[in-house]
Parts: sequence; structure tokens; C-alpha cells
Amino acid sequence: MEAPFVLPREASIEDPLRLAVLISGGGSGLSSILSFQSSEPRCHRTVLVLADSENAGGLEHGRRAGITTRGIPLLQGLQSIERRLAHESIILSQIESSGAELVVLSGYMRILTPSFVAKWKGRLLNIHPSLLPDFPGAHAHRDVLSAGVSTTGCTVHLVDEGVDTGPILAQREVPVLPDDDEEALQERVKKVEHVLYPEVIDLLCSGGVSLEVNG
Ligand code: GAR
Repeated sequence: MEAPFVLPREASIEDPLRLAVLISGGGSGLSSILSFQSSEPRCHRTVLVLADSENAGGLEHGRRAGITTRGIPLLQGLQSIERRLAHESIILSQIESSGAELVVLSGYMRILTPSFVAKWKGRLLNIHPSLLPDFPGAHAHRDVLSAGVSTTGCTVHLVDEGVDTGPILAQREVPVLPDDDEEALQERVKKVEHVLYPEVIDLLCSGGVSLEVNG
């Protein structure tokens, strides 16, 4: 039987929800979350930033904000499944010891195992750069361009055991323009993501999300 979704507690400005943000790359999404949190009192704050590499450019955003920030590379010398599990168990223990109450995937390009998901289900959020269920996977913009569609967008969803599946909390459309290449499209979608993700995090943390997916 699959684990149920357990949403985070309803937080307040006086008692904000503690967030762990996981990234893999430049972290422009992380930066937008941190700006949102520092611009005025919010019902959430970031207590931990993790990346799956020590070279992820986005780690700098966490460090500059004075947040506990770590790049955790995959261990060498293990077979692929053991390597993945060992890495994930370090990530998990860092999250647990930080006291985080919500895990926010922001451009984190690793697929989490069902056992990780089960522990955080309902408190594990992702943003994906397409209108799911269309164009899941690691190459959404490339796939959008090869399909020739005229509209794409971004989706914020709770993570379940699948890949880019799980209850959708919000979506925003973005036009695909005739001369777009992957980079141009990615930049246009990111601008919208940077507004949408902080808003949905805010809604979730303030108790504004309810789910009927548990039956
Ligand atoms: C974002 O567009 C995010 O939606 C995407 O990676 C980018 C991260 O950018 N995530 C995925 O593709 C997850 N499958 P950033 O590092 O500049 O925040």
C-alpha cells in the first residue's frame, strides 16, 4: 500500500514552517524563494540548502543568506544503486537533523526513491517546467519544442512515488514563440516559476491547501 499524503502543519508568521530547499544547478528558483522570505514577514523560512554536488552555483545563494548550506556529491567506488541509496541517506539525515518540516525541490535533478518519498509524502514539493502531465522528465523544454506546441508553462505539485506525478497544486501557462530555442524558453518559464513557486509555498504553509487524494 502506498503511503498517505500528510500535509505540513499550519504555520504562522510567529511560528514559521522550516524549509529545506534542494537544488542541482544555478539556483535561480532558490534565490526567488529566499528573496520572497526576506522581503517581508512570512509563515516559512529556509533552514537548509542542499545540492547534489559541491559545484552547484546555487549554493552561493544559501551561503550568502547565512543558511546552513551543503553540496553533497555522490560517493565514488560504489555500484549505481548503492551509490544512489548512500547519497540519499546522507541527504535524508541532513534534512532530519536540520529540523526541516517541508522539503522543497527547486531544480533538484535526482529522482527520489519511494522510501524517501514515503517519509515526506505531502511535505515534499516540486516545480516542473511544463504543464504536467505533459512533458515530464529531465528535458521538458526540448520535448516541448520538438512537439511543436504553442503553449507550455510550469507546474507545482506534491511529489508521489512516480516521476513528475503527484497532486498538482498550481500551474501557469507560458507561450512558446516561433524563434525559441531551449535556452530562451527556459528563461521565459523560469520568470513565471519565480513568482508561482513562492506563492504556492506560502499557500501550503498557511494551511491553504487541502487534498482529497487520500480517499
Ligand atoms: C527550473 O526551471 C525547474 O523547474 C527545473 O530546473 C530549473 C532549475 O533552475 N526543474 C526540473 O527540470 C525538474 N525536473 P534553477 O537552478 O535556476 O533554479
